[in-house]
Amino acid sequence: MCGIVGYIGNKRAQSILLDCLKKLEYRGYDSCGIAIAGDGIKVYKDAVRVGTLGKSSPRFDGTTGIGHTRWATHGAPSQVNAHPHLDCKGNIAVVHNGVISNFQELRNRLTSEGHDFISETDTEVISHLIEKYYRGSLEEAVESALHDIEGSYAIIVLMPNETKLVAARKDSPLIIGIGDRENFIASDVPALLEYTDRVIYLEDGDIGVITTDSIRVRRDGSEINRKEHKVLWTVAEAQKGGYEHFMLKEIHEQPQVIRNTLGEYTRMTDSVVGLAGIRDSGIGSVLMVACGTSYHAALTGKYIIEELLSIPVRAEIASEFNYYSHVLARTVAVAITQSGETADTLKAMKRLKEVGCRVVAITNVVGSSATRIANQTIYIRAGPEISVAATKSFTAQLIALYWIAMSYSKVDARRITELNMELRQLPSQVQRVLDDEDKIIEHAKYLSGFEDVFFIGRGINYPVALEAAWKLTEVSYIHAAGYAAGEMKHCPFTLLGSNTPVIAIVAKDSTYEAMLTNIKEIKARGSPVIALIEEGDEVIEELVDSVITVPRVNTIFSPVVNTVALQLLAYYTAKERDCPIDYPRNLAKSVTVE
Ligand code: AGP
Repeated sequence: MCGIVGYIGNKRAQSILLDCLKKLEYRGYDSCGIAIAGDGIKVYKDAVRVGTLGKSSPRFDGTTGIGHTRWATHGAPSQVNAHPHLDCKGNIAVVHNGVISNFQELRNRLTSEGHDFISETDTEVISHLIEKYYRGSLEEAVESALHDIEGSYAIIVLMPNETKLVAARKDSPLIIGIGDRENFIASDVPALLEYTDRVIYLEDGDIGVITTDSIRVRRDGSEINRKEHKVLWTVAEAQKGGYEHFMLKEIHEQPQVIRNTLGEYTRMTDSVVGLAGIRDSGIGSVLMVACGTSYHAALTGKYIIEELLSIPVRAEIASEFNYYSHVLARTVAVAITQSGETADTLKAMKRLKEVGCRVVAITNVVGSSATRIANQTIYIRAGPEISVAATKSFTAQLIALYWIAMSYSKVDARRITELNMELRQLPSQVQRVLDDEDKIIEHAKYLSGFEDVFFIGRGINYPVALEAAWKLTEVSYIHAAGYAAGEMKHCPFTLLGSNTPVIAIVAKDSTYEAMLTNIKEIKARGSPVIALIEEGDEVIEELVDSVITVPRVNTIFSPVVNTVALQLLAYYTAKERDCPIDYPRNLAKSVTVE
């Protein structure tokens, strides 16, 4: 997810573009750039934040330009890979948000036709395609170029000898801001609100032709009308998409994040090199290292991979692993890290490489340190995660682990087909959890009155209990702890009582009966119990104080729907307690020190 902007009017474009880009940095901030039409095209771009670029860039006087702030997907953040991208002659500049899935094929074809490419990005093919089809009309050249392109895009195209900007979208947002003798284009409303609250939302397949005084929208070669809307949000509200906090926005992004992450893998041919060897030889194991929420994903991954691949998996907390005296060599090591910059995890990766392990990184950030240490990187497609509390990245990490396990699974083909079908239904199941948000708010109001809370689970939902406690503690400052339900009687029972509510995560699997017993034991010691159960489970409802119901899914996928429900519980409990949800005290989004 990147942010793109365009300006055409009678004011100096440079400062307006930089100001608009700054308001889109929540969409991506690893590099940025602008292109201004004047005598030819002036491009200034680098792997820096918008503020820094603004300070270092020379002055350009043109009144038409485009800009971009990046969240790298293809090609690590660098000056060359930053947008805008030009054609061979430097006459066409393009900024792009999205992923061109057939870019390699297009690049090979254009290279054979004499086009030279300088970046590693998918985007650069667009400016070269427009150059190929340009016969005097920019919008027609863009139309032809888009016929060749597969994937998602929002683009803005600049050509100095054309007194217009051309914009187009498919599966990526793009809006036009209407001014007085000036017009704006942007990925999202926050960029424009300072200048206008009159906008046109482009639809998939629309091409906008924007000049200082006019806005035309074309579709399938003919002009159409698009309604003007008045925006009622403040800039801050708009950056959060109308949500009060980034955490809630990111929780609600999860159905799309799951689709994007799964979409990424359908394009990949091979998952984790080396796993097949372990599966077939039966020699070796998988070692997962991570910290915090990513460690909880790793622990869930242990259950997933052991069940579907029947090979031994160790999940280790990286900061502890770094002081283990012994590391097994014949191991495929998987390091999970959203930011790709967590010091303890990077140290573990280096150590594992030193002893000859094959190291695979699962990360959300292209070009991060983890991708440079790893032998192979698998990206999750969660997009920028602004809230310190990891939510959508955790779910996307689970999707990566399901995909890895199912790619090499030994279980019968029919089961894999069924699991694949269920995996693709997960976005809509998660949407059902989100649609039930109001019911969770009631539980949050109740929970917000306590200072100690326990979460319990068994099997694949034990790590879910750990993650739920982590999230509640992180954002609401309630001291929450997660336990394997079977462990409660070995110590935590001593803290049970009316002041310590317990949230029991109950799956309809082999652990069901044991969870029933644990709940009865806990109730007998005076703790209120809220059970998170599958819809239609009336047995538990009788036993507990209240229930949170989630859609019925295959147990192996239950961590996804259960976690989303518990993320909402943590969020609304923190909101009840008026906590600074997106930036909890004493924490950082990426912990780059040991
Ligand atoms: C989770 O909400 C926290 N922000 C924190 O525990 C985090 O998961 C941990 O610091 C690991 O970060 P990483 O995934 O970027 O390596």
